[in-house]
Amino acid sequence: MSQNLLYKIDKAVKQNKDPNEIAIICRQYLSKYPKNIRVLNILKNIKLSQNKQIFSNHILKLKQYIKSNQLQNAYDLSLELIKTDDKNPLIYSITGDILVKSNHFLEALNYYIKSAKIDPHFEKINSKLYDFLMTTNPSEYMDEWAAGFETLLSNKKHLGHTKLNLITTKAIKYFKLNQTFKNLSKYSGNSFVSSNLKKMSENELTEIKENILTLSSIKVFLLCIEKCRVCDIQAEKILTFVRKFILLNIYDEVFSIKINNLIEILALNSFFNDYIFFISEEETIKLNEIENKLQFNKIRKTQDKVSKILALSMYRNLSNSPIIKNLKPEYLPLKFYKYCISNPFKEKKLIKSVKTFGKIENKVSSKVKNQYEIFPYPQWIYSDTYLQKTNFKEYINTLGLKLSNYNIFKKFEKSILIAGCGTGKETVEYGELINDINITAVDLSSKSLGYALRKCAELKIKNINFLQGDILNLQDLNKTFDLVMSNGVIHHMEDPNAGVTSINNCLKKNGLLKLSLYSEIARRNLLEYQDLAKSEKIISHLQLRNFRNKIIKCEDFKSKQILDFGDFYNSSTFKDLILHEQEHTFNIQKIKELVKRLNLKFCGFQNTRGLYNKFIQHFRSSQNLYDLDYWAEFEEKYPDTFSSMYQFWCQKI
Ligand SMILES: C[S@@+](CC[C@H](N)C(=O)[O-])C[C@H]1O[C@@H](n2cnc3c(N)ncnc32)[C@H](O)[C@@H]1O
Repeated sequence: MSQNLLYKIDKAVKQNKDPNEIAIICRQYLSKYPKNIRVLNILKNIKLSQNKQIFSNHILKLKQYIKSNQLQNAYDLSLELIKTDDKNPLIYSITGDILVKSNHFLEALNYYIKSAKIDPHFEKINSKLYDFLMTTNPSEYMDEWAAGFETLLSNKKHLGHTKLNLITTKAIKYFKLNQTFKNLSKYSGNSFVSSNLKKMSENELTEIKENILTLSSIKVFLLCIEKCRVCDIQAEKILTFVRKFILLNIYDEVFSIKINNLIEILALNSFFNDYIFFISEEETIKLNEIENKLQFNKIRKTQDKVSKILALSMYRNLSNSPIIKNLKPEYLPLKFYKYCISNPFKEKKLIKSVKTFGKIENKVSSKVKNQYEIFPYPQWIYSDTYLQKTNFKEYINTLGLKLSNYNIFKKFEKSILIAGCGTGKETVEYGELINDINITAVDLSSKSLGYALRKCAELKIKNINFLQGDILNLQDLNKTFDLVMSNGVIHHMEDPNAGVTSINNCLKKNGLLKLSLYSEIARRNLLEYQDLAKSEKIISHLQLRNFRNKIIKCEDFKSKQILDFGDFYNSSTFKDLILHEQEHTFNIQKIKELVKRLNLKFCGFQNTRGLYNKFIQHFRSSQNLYDLDYWAEFEEKYPDTFSSMYQFWCQKI
């Protein structure tokens, strides 16, 4: 009898019979043999899939309610569902949507936060919270919004580089509503550079200390500045002031011990903005005094030493300093040690393994190399995360390009050259994203390549071969490629034509070329700054900081747009923005000539930030998307279209 029942169960399962029917036989069997694991499991799975079915029916119903604007019904049902399963991120997120539709933003935010906390890696939900925070602008500081930003910023890696920068900028803007921020801006104001602490009364000094103490406990603020540059001039002024105040009061041990975490985070922030904040003479004197004491071992207690090292690190990178070498790493805070000391050290070691090609003989190439040896570009921690790996063909197909020939897709493994890879951000991203490619990445700067190699080792990426050399010598690689990409590089060569010709010579027939070049018109507002820079001799980091400070203080510039460039807020990107050793700009006519001269076929612009939609909207047609003359007309009408460069694709025919 029991064997018979077992046979019946197996047969019903095999034939995909109605689960209710199978469940009846299972229960019959279990009434006699309640411990049979196999049958218990079958019953458990049936229950699970029935629950899943019931759940997806409910979700369907919820969505119908929302679609037909029956928001009260939708809300009631969502609360019912949460009661039955309070660990499901999707229901919280949908409840958030219902509340947004009903204009209950605060409650909606709470639900989005709950869903993101349950599963921060659930892309859909996480980006709901992201979208919500990016699009709402509360008029006063509220803990709920702070909690929303904290939730996202606690999981920076998942956000990726671009989203992280955007959300941090938004969070900083929001943080300006905070009372502590407002209190401190009273002191930093416009005179943050020259604020004279000696002239302040005891009461004022006590008030500042209290505010800094409060600041050191505001999680959202700390998360914002920890691993991101702060792209907001008002916030920069506060940070510069706070840093100065801390330094000048560093011997007040009660105070400095209490804010140790803030000092560490300011040191991290300075590392990631490449020490761009202005340093007054008063601070320089104090810094030298502390440095001397450390160097000559005049500070005995380890705890004191650490606190002074961190204070110095708010201004300088000490990875090469003998001060650090005398101290066991375990005495230093972990994050600080990892990013500011250990990583640069690893990079230095890795640089030695980089192979070279050709000889760098061109004078401009040598100058540009020197620039990027001091200011590698760009500094990055997280790549822009891609959820799904893809292959070369699928990736190219997503771009909406107009190709003339599809033969390149036939090959099993495609070879890619990144010409001028810098610190390897995009190179690593392609390595992570596309699985059937082999990447060669070249750059002039060994320091940038060291950074890229360290990142590859960290992310365990193996399909990239980094080489040091000049694009002008690419023929020495003795290799041709299916795709060559060069982002923000060619316009820094003495003769951009020679650069693209060299690149084109190592491109296979039907191969693809992606170039990103500066647009003359999009950079028009930077000219007055570049002219001023030319009239001054700016070589050292100190001169660069002082020059930048002059820009911040000066009211005479026609355009203040420079403050809106993210690149303004980090030394290496600032150098790139207006103080480059060599810069050419392009216009669409020049691109047309370049494409023609090299006998390439223009395949389209990179469709970022809704570019194609804007074009189609303007011309009311997509017919001329691949015609550069139409793009010239479009750019004339919208001169900021290519503010992040002309990024376009061509094919070798
Ligand atoms: C602005 S960075 C861009 C880096 C990278 N492509 C990106 O978008 O993140 C320019 C890079 O091009 C490199 N570069 C400039 N001229 C070069 C040349 N002639 N040969 C090789 N690399 C060059 C520089 O060393 C620098 O790392």
